[in-house]
Amino acid sequence: MKDYRDFLAEVLIPEDKLQKRITELGAEISRDYAGKEILLICILRGGVMFLTDLIRHIDTPLAIEFMAVSSYGVGGRESQGQVRITLDLNCSIQDKHVILVEDIIDSGHTLASVIELLETRDPASLCICTLLDKVERREVNVPVKYTGFTIPNKFVFGYGLDIDDFYRNLPFIGVVDLERYQP
Ligand code: PRP
Ligand code: MN
Ligand code: MG
Repeated sequence: MKDYRDFLAEVLIPEDKLQKRITELGAEISRDYAGKEILLICILRGGVMFLTDLIRHIDTPLAIEFMAVSSYGVGGRESQGQVRITLDLNCSIQDKHVILVEDIIDSGHTLASVIELLETRDPASLCICTLLDKVERREVNVPVKYTGFTIPNKFVFGYGLDIDDFYRNLPFIGVVDLERYQP
């Protein structure tokens, strides 16, 4: 794999700005759910970095769970509008206050399918917290309660977001220069 600096067009959101916003989101969630227990469900794999940073800033009792869905073909970059659950939850969500934690909403298909499935399991409440929202690309409507940043339609990577499964570990959100990135 290439060094990301070889195809980084720009740093869209630097680490300090990301962390500042995540701190704010944690405080907002703490306020909204004061006195309640919450269950945060991270959608693997992209949501991992965001989840682990976000929960450090929430001070209401919380549990975490993981789900994996696949909407993009292996190595693919475009959503096909079809979503498959590849790892389901290990617990019941009945009567629980659930927050879905995602790195990015693009077409909306991933979260629309997850919400549809989880609603059938009777949570006390269910909402979405996404770090990034690429609003222009939306194909299906999803109700988003917490958004870190609304971003333009650019190919972004880092902080959980991959390019061909790599670069998720970078602490910032970068934009790919497609002319300089060779898969
Ligand atoms: C990406 C991203 C979201 C989803 C958003 O995940 O992490 O989960 O796509 O796209 P959508 O709104 O068009 O459905 P991906 O399927 O690439 O899996 P990953 O998280 O393992 O990278
Ligand atoms: Mn994902
Ligand atoms: Mg991906």
